[in-house]
Amino acid sequence: MERDWNELFCWFHRHPEIGFQEYETTAKIREILKEEGLTLHPAELETGVIAVVEGKKPGKTNGKTICFRADIDALPIEEKTNLSYASEHPGCMHACGHDFHTTVALKVASLLNQRKENLAGRIYFVFQPAEEVASGAEYVRKNGCLPEFSEVFGFHAEPSLRPGQVSIQSGSVMAAVDGFRIDIRGKGTHGATPQLGVNPITTAVSVVEKLGRVVPEQLSPLHAGVVSVTHIEGGATWNVIPETAFLEGTVRTMDGRDRSRIKEEIHRIARGVEREGRVQTKVDWQEGPSAVINDKELCESARDLAQKHGLQNVVLDPAMTGDDFSKFVPEGSDIKGLYIKVGTGSSENLHSDRFKVDASALEQTAEFLAELLEKQAVC
Ligand code: NI
Repeated sequence: MERDWNELFCWFHRHPEIGFQEYETTAKIREILKEEGLTLHPAELETGVIAVVEGKKPGKTNGKTICFRADIDALPIEEKTNLSYASEHPGCMHACGHDFHTTVALKVASLLNQRKENLAGRIYFVFQPAEEVASGAEYVRKNGCLPEFSEVFGFHAEPSLRPGQVSIQSGSVMAAVDGFRIDIRGKGTHGATPQLGVNPITTAVSVVEKLGRVVPEQLSPLHAGVVSVTHIEGGATWNVIPETAFLEGTVRTMDGRDRSRIKEEIHRIARGVEREGRVQTKVDWQEGPSAVINDKELCESARDLAQKHGLQNVVLDPAMTGDDFSKFVPEGSDIKGLYIKVGTGSSENLHSDRFKVDASALEQTAEFLAELLEKQAVC
């Protein structure tokens, strides 16, 4: 009997689970993969699943080893969509479309499994946990017992595009996501006798002001970057100069050199205020996934195929948000990556408690992606 993929999507939507707790989701994915006759790849994953389709096409070339990655986790958000299939898990919601990603990937896996007699190469379907906490991709790379890939494909639901539209662009399409924290230690004293202490809050203010000048003064005006201070804390009351203060924030860049430059500049600022202000500073740089960079040739080939499928390619601005998809395509490696944005209809933005996916995009997206993988698997 033909599977109702739309109903499966609704099931995933009703059962969201946050990063590394996707137990029900994992069990469901395994169940569907087995029913569709796929081979599960032996991986040591607590949550997340890997399946493989081994092409059976006869001939001299045995094709490429390709990865198709879909993220499966949800967010700690209380859903307010009023959908008939809204979340049944209080305080948890598929607000980033990963329910759509999971369903599409299952359908793509099923389609390619049916076509394996004509398929060259091996395609690994990685159902990745914990994208939202930016550590699932690294976890799968460490514990997935994966082979070397020549190409890695991923996609994301895009609420600014309607079903039938896609965005396939070469170069950086999403930013590197790093965090930083700067701790400042001064000398605490009575609020009435500042001359007897060193106020770390004064230094923190000066650091915030200097950080605001990093992007305009250190990056080319033609390059995009963000340094946002998002949290600052120091002191507990009105008449005490505290001993310590700290601030933290995020850095977003599209280019590896800009990324290193900003990191170095943040350290330089901290050393600078230490010299000027008689304080001690400590910088904690929290390195996240690098930028998502699309390969030019893969883009061209995907665009041609999209057109054949009646999909309209729309140029979008690169996003300063990130995706740990880039962990599968390490900078400087020969692995080629392609990350496609797929129109899922007008809605509140990703991560909103009113975000919705128009599931009518499901079939067309899966057909297109299956053919793209099939075409790329040939050497
Ligand atoms: Ni997402």
